[in-house]
Amino acid sequence: MRKKIVAGNWKMNKTAAEAFVLATEVAQLVKSDVPADVQVIMATPALYLTGVSQVVEGMSNLDVAAQNCHEKASGAYTGEISAVQLASAAIPYVLIGHSERREYFAESNEQLAAKVDAALANGITPIFCCGESLSLREGGDFLAFVADQLTASLFHLSAEEFGKVVIAYEPIWAIGTGLTASAGQAQEMHAHLRVHIAAKYGATVADDCSILYGGSCNAKNAQEIFAGPDVDGGLIGGASLIAADFITIAKSF
Ligand code: G3P
Repeated sequence: MRKKIVAGNWKMNKTAAEAFVLATEVAQLVKSDVPADVQVIMATPALYLTGVSQVVEGMSNLDVAAQNCHEKASGAYTGEISAVQLASAAIPYVLIGHSERREYFAESNEQLAAKVDAALANGITPIFCCGESLSLREGGDFLAFVADQLTASLFHLSAEEFGKVVIAYEPIWAIGTGLTASAGQAQEMHAHLRVHIAAKYGATVADDCSILYGGSCNAKNAQEIFAGPDVDGGLIGGASLIAADFITIAKSF
């Protein structure tokens, strides 16, 4: 079912003490200020997932997400965390295919498809990240490129499986740069992806898919971006590290 979602990607930020303070502030503000139909998620560093899970316990519209998972269930993969292990700790969401993972860890479309399968097999909701580089944006092939990312890593799924996936469109040139996509640019891509999904799985599955925008989304521009009919929320980086700003974004629908 299509949901309004605002997820904060903390990336590699916050000490253990800072993480507890931020999570507690967010939880308090979600309880007091955020409508129940908006799902708020904190994608913390893996080290903090179980601790922050205790902070959000019992809350219907605040949860945690891992920032990655390995595609294998177990084995000699030093430093990695599997979807089996995330599920054993009751972690309900996982980011998959963030552009920083694709760039710095050379994660391929095929590997990401396996990660999506592993998450779904363990009852974890994948938040699948996609987006184009500046050169592709300037070159004009960005719509086809991003649609192809879905085809390559998601379109092996059944309609039922795909219906469990959240999409996050994050133009790489907007991530961490302060150069936000315009509301029109975001809506154009989201609409294109929804049409692409409908062509594969039909209008009902496409209409039910939550497609989030990420890339320098902040307390000032979120309302305009979220007004797009095909924008169902955001995947927020820097602004998610400040509780008040993150909650302002969560209230921007
Ligand atoms: O995953 C969200 C992130 O990539 C966006 O970062 O700092 O541009 O909001 P930021």
